[in-house]
Order: sequence, then C-alpha cells, then structure tokens
Amino acid sequence: MKNYVSASVLSADMLSFGDEIKKLEKNGIDMLHFDVMDGIFVNNITFGLPVLERMNRETDIVLDVHLMITDPLKYVKRFAENGADIISFHIESESDTMETINAIRESGAKTALAIKPATPAKAVYEYMPYLDMVLVMTVEPGFSGQKFMDMSDKISKIRKYADENGYDVDIEVDGGINDVTSETVKKAGANVLVSGSYLFKAEDMKETANKLRSDV
Ligand code: DX5
Ligand code: ZN
Repeated sequence: MKNYVSASVLSADMLSFGDEIKKLEKNGIDMLHFDVMDGIFVNNITFGLPVLERMNRETDIVLDVHLMITDPLKYVKRFAENGADIISFHIESESDTMETINAIRESGAKTALAIKPATPAKAVYEYMPYLDMVLVMTVEPGFSGQKFMDMSDKISKIRKYADENGYDVDIEVDGGINDVTSETVKKAGANVLVSGSYLFKAEDMKETANKLRSDV
C-alpha cells in the first residue's frame, strides 16, 4: 500500500498561507490537511469554507478536510463545493453516520470516517464498504502539538478487517506524528500520515516527508 503525507496547515503561518502552500507543492507533499473546528465538538475554533475556497483556487494539491464539528451532515455538501477532495467526519458527532456518508459520496468527495482515541475499531466495521478512508486519531482532537497516543492495536484491527473482507481503504493517522511515531503507525497498517508541528518545523521539509512516508 502506498504511503502519503498530509500536511496539517493548522501549524502553518496563517498570514502566509499562499507561500506555505507553494512550499508544500515544492516539497512534494501529497495532501493538505484542513482542520475545521466549531468550538463545540472540540474546544477550539479554526477556519472554514471561505479559506478552503481560496486555497482551492490556489492549488491542485489534494485537500483533505477533517471536520471536527457537531453536525457535519449540514455542511459536507458545501465543503465539497468549496474544494474538499476528501472529507472526514467523526462517528462521535451528532449527525447520523450513514446519512453523512451518503451525503459525502453524493458530493463526489472521497469519504472518510474519523474516530477518537476512546472509540474502538469495531465501531467502523459496518461502514467500511462505503468508505475510502478511516481516520484514527492519535491524540484527542482539538489542538496541534500534542503527545502521540499509541493506537497500534486499533489500527491493526482495522487493517486486518479491511484485508479479510477485501475493502480497499486507506488508514489515516492524525496527531503527534514524527520520525519515531510514524514507524509505529506504519507497522500497524496506517498509510496516510498527517503531520502538523513536526513537518512545519522541519529544516528540510522534503527529506522529512520522505522519511514519514518511507516503507517500514
Ligand atoms: C488535531 C488536528 C490535527 C493536528 C495535528 O485535532 O486534527 O490535524 O493539527 O498536529 P500535530 O501533527 O502537531 O499533532
Ligand atoms: Zn486533523
């Protein structure tokens, strides 16, 4: 399975998003991870539709939108219309899971289901035939720069379930990913690595991304 790096722009210089996006392109970053928080589902508020729309006009990089909002069903169509290529929403949100999956599929974006650290692997099994990706949080959603929580057991269960049932799904991990923790999650079966603080702080972004996505 091919590995990808998704750069979380929550850690970028927000006054220079244009330059930061050019930097991601120049360094061959696969995806731009766009964290949407509503101050209710999580204790933080970030950015939303107008910023995504502007980024979409600027770049062809894959826009990987992570919705940490209470009622994703209400907004998925508009995120797709404003440039989201992949939309992740949380199973712990208040929207009906299957209805939200269907709405994303109808919008034409790739569909991903996100789970918080306390949610078990089996919670996603029944939805896997309809998903392009499962997002396993390796921190409590809300902030960048937090300490990695080891979800290896959960990741390997999901990978095993996908393999056994012939589901072609990516497994994305988000939170505390660096040179060490990336090895752990890839060994367990994750292949899309979100990186915020570690990637944007790196002296050589290209080399760092290559290391993050290298095979284990
Ligand atoms: C946290 C966000 C993450 C965050 C990752 O709720 O979903 O995408 O920006 O940042 P790092 O890589 O610094 O943990
Ligand atoms: Zn995220």
